[in-house]
Amino acid sequence: MSACDRFCDADPSGIRLRAAIIPPMNAYHRRYCRSAKWARQLEETVLPWVIRDYDLGADVLEIGPGPGLATDLLRARYPRLTCIEIDEKLATSLKERLGGTNVEVHQGDATAMLFPDGSFSGAIAMTMLHHVPSAELQDRLLAETFRVLRPGGVFAGSDSTVNLKFRLVHLFDTMVVVDPGPFARRLEAAGFVDVAVREGKGAFRFRAKKPA
Ligand SMILES: C[S@@+](CC[C@H](N)C(=O)[O-])C[C@H]1O[C@@H](n2cnc3c(N)ncnc32)[C@H](O)[C@@H]1O
Repeated sequence: MSACDRFCDADPSGIRLRAAIIPPMNAYHRRYCRSAKWARQLEETVLPWVIRDYDLGADVLEIGPGPGLATDLLRARYPRLTCIEIDEKLATSLKERLGGTNVEVHQGDATAMLFPDGSFSGAIAMTMLHHVPSAELQDRLLAETFRVLRPGGVFAGSDSTVNLKFRLVHLFDTMVVVDPGPFARRLEAAGFVDVAVREGKGAFRFRAKKPA
């Protein structure tokens, strides 16, 4: 049994301690997630592709904001944005940077959220699911997102599909790739309806709704 397994066994979800032992992102990846290149890509390509046609409402939850490049775009679009980020340093610096704005940042694990049922009109998870370290925990995150959405609430997001560059960026990172093929069924198993999964170049996007 590795040290990680031992520590993770002591945590009911495993993920918090795992995150403390294996940083979810390596140094290169952390730099990329705050780079001007990624900011441009998010603004011009990724985010419009994800939220086009979908109304997330006025109370939006962002799961796994990292340094907050998508947060900056989302907060200009939605009146209230709540972020949940598992990495303590990232959560703290985002909280400091966006203090006094329409964004509330919580350090926490999206597979076991403390928000009451039905807190949000919409939720978004941008390129974060593959950082959740097992398919079971990813499914728990989907179920938790379903729980904290109001009836009729929309969950939208994107994730990368696997290729050589993606593998290299994730050396020594958590990387549990989400297969877009069965992903619609996983969203439905969490309770979502009107599920759509679309594949694009190097990524897929999804949209799903909590029944009204
Ligand atoms: C690749 S970054 C993406 C950051 C941002 N969404 C973007 O697209 O630029 C993934 C983020 O998800 C966070 N994360 C991973 N597992 C999480 C969990 N269980 N709960 C909340 N955040 C999590 C990581 O700490 C990391 O900041």
